[in-house]
Amino acid sequence: MSTFTESLFARKSVDRILADSAAAHDGPQLKRSMGLGHLTALSIGASLGTGIFVILGEATPKAGPAVIVAFILAAVTALFSALSYAEMAGTIPVSGSSYSYAYATIGEFFAWICGWCLLLEYGVSVAAVAVGWGQYINELLRTLFDVELPTAIAAPPGDGGIVNIPSMVIVALACIVLVGGATESARLNTAMVVLKVCVLVFFCAIAFTAFESGNLSPFMPFGTHGMTAAAAMVFFSYIGFDAASTAGNEAKNPTRDLPRAIILSLGIITVLYCLVALAAVGAMPWQEFGGSEASLAKILTDVTGQTWPSVILSIGAVIAIASVVLAVMYGQSRILYTMGSDGLVPRVFAKVNPRTFVPVRNIVIVSVVIAVLAGLVPLGELANATSIGSLFAFALVNVGVILLRINRPDLPRAFKTPLFPLIPVLGIGFCGYLMLQLEARTWIAFAVWSAVGLVVYFVYGYQHSRLRQDVDLAKDAR
Ligand code: ALA
Repeated sequence: MSTFTESLFARKSVDRILADSAAAHDGPQLKRSMGLGHLTALSIGASLGTGIFVILGEATPKAGPAVIVAFILAAVTALFSALSYAEMAGTIPVSGSSYSYAYATIGEFFAWICGWCLLLEYGVSVAAVAVGWGQYINELLRTLFDVELPTAIAAPPGDGGIVNIPSMVIVALACIVLVGGATESARLNTAMVVLKVCVLVFFCAIAFTAFESGNLSPFMPFGTHGMTAAAAMVFFSYIGFDAASTAGNEAKNPTRDLPRAIILSLGIITVLYCLVALAAVGAMPWQEFGGSEASLAKILTDVTGQTWPSVILSIGAVIAIASVVLAVMYGQSRILYTMGSDGLVPRVFAKVNPRTFVPVRNIVIVSVVIAVLAGLVPLGELANATSIGSLFAFALVNVGVILLRINRPDLPRAFKTPLFPLIPVLGIGFCGYLMLQLEARTWIAFAVWSAVGLVVYFVYGYQHSRLRQDVDLAKDAR
């Protein structure tokens, strides 16, 4: 192998990753303040949002009542990768998530690609989610007060407006909370998670009173094809279960709690999603799902004959999406923190404020970029590419589990994926399968995104990598 190729595939040893995370740089460190509850809520916070409130309504016309099976199939797909995440998070409990796992197992180049994909999974997707939040606020204003924000200030240029103020507002609010401290952010997120779970339980309680088993037949009007297409769509609602793995440096007991939080959160959202889907298709014939977010609200209005339950649902959606924004922005800042500590992005991302023990400048930069994206840029295809980016990162984690078991069988592992190597191999297979279900233009957007990432890597990351600088120093010393 040439020196160049060797350096691209240079791996950062697990021991070094752990040592660096204990003292990533001079100056203040992140503070360990998050317990199992906060970590689980972080993952639920990042996942439970538009997927269940909006995409359920869009996927049901494709699958019929079998949308319930679609949610289970998507959950199984997520579970393979979640088990791999759990193993890696328990073995390499740092804040870089799959980026750090790839650095330890496949090498710097793939770690960078992974980090760049995480910018899609976290940064770009949260900008799109913030835009969705603006739409919910508008809907709530319409229902409650019969007023609507003018398009000029509620949509970006290109979508008929000038700037999307509500989406910038939610990003700014999340920024203020995150800058305030990790404990405060985790507490607020946990409260919002409890509220959004309660709203979905409230939905189920009302919808189940109108349950009619006749609505479930025919169960699979479009065959398995319709069901798998719906599964690919609803997979989006599980993205975010990995968020706890961005809190490795702030967890009180990371090796024990990170794997538990990842699996627990996936279990909770799976049960909740399947119950909501069952209640929804049991209460309303699948043909009546309009393919929009109004479906769940319509069910509540039809069942009760009143509008207040649907107002509660809309408030729930506003809270749910706000918590996705908070949790995902948290994750994005911590991934960049880790990449900054490694020198692959500017060091400013790794500077921790001595008073609040959070990377304040990092959070502010992340927030400004996300606010500009959300407020001014019609994200279109780039937002669609978030699923592909997440699936690619998930696949790399599965590869990482296999490589690390082979290369470092000796490492203490707080959690071990069962049925090794079957589970990670299935994880790779399912991620690849779902990626192939996505449209050609999504692949093109992903290819363009990756190409930009490569340019950034060679212009900046490759030149400033701490690992490479250390290797070069060691060579010079010889
Ligand atoms: N899983 C997240 C949602 O459904 C991204 O909003």
